[in-house]
Amino acid sequence: MADRQELRLLGDTPKAVSRRKFIQGVIAGGAAVSSAAYLFRSSAVHGAGDTGGRLITLNVNGQRRRADVMKQETLAWTLRYKLGLTGTKLGCDRGECGACTVLLDDVPHYSCSVLTHTVRDQKVLTIEGLANPDGTLHPIQQGIIDEQGFQCAFCMSGFIMASVGFLKTNPNPTRSELAHGISGNLCRCQDYDKILTSLMRGAANMREVNHVDLG
Ligand code: FES
Ligand code: FES
Repeated sequence: MADRQELRLLGDTPKAVSRRKFIQGVIAGGAAVSSAAYLFRSSAVHGAGDTGGRLITLNVNGQRRRADVMKQETLAWTLRYKLGLTGTKLGCDRGECGACTVLLDDVPHYSCSVLTHTVRDQKVLTIEGLANPDGTLHPIQQGIIDEQGFQCAFCMSGFIMASVGFLKTNPNPTRSELAHGISGNLCRCQDYDKILTSLMRGAANMREVNHVDLG
């Protein structure tokens, strides 16, 4: 009922309601569909089924996680296929699209271009670790719901992680500064204006939550 009333206020269509619910459903975990074709191609590269890995411990989303990791394995692969954290997406798998962005010690990195063995002493933060344990979304995630950014949402977790990292050192960016800060992320649906509006709203939410004095 509340949705219908909100719809009337926004002048949206019922189709938009289901989209809103879809976005809310995937935003915390980034559970968008991944490519089966990619999986088959990558299995050969990463030696799926090979047991020649080494058991290591990673710090992921504040938890110690054990994984059997091949020496040539990328962090994106480990997160998705060893630890089940599929919110980190794989698009290009060669450092071009930003879909796989995670934070390493608070700095955004393309996880498809980082070997898992090299991050054993670092804190890894993925989209699954952003929300509070009580389910309260991160201010950036809330900004996306508020502004209805993103279409298919495949690129969404990468944009969110890049923004969270950028805003840690630039809490009050102009629109063009934020655009520059996330310029390493691509959106195949090309909804950049709406994405930026959502992330700017998220940045404002963050300042409110963190009580940043803008002078
Ligand atoms: S999947 Fe890592 S940059 Fe595209
Ligand atoms: S919203 Fe579809 S790729 Fe960005």
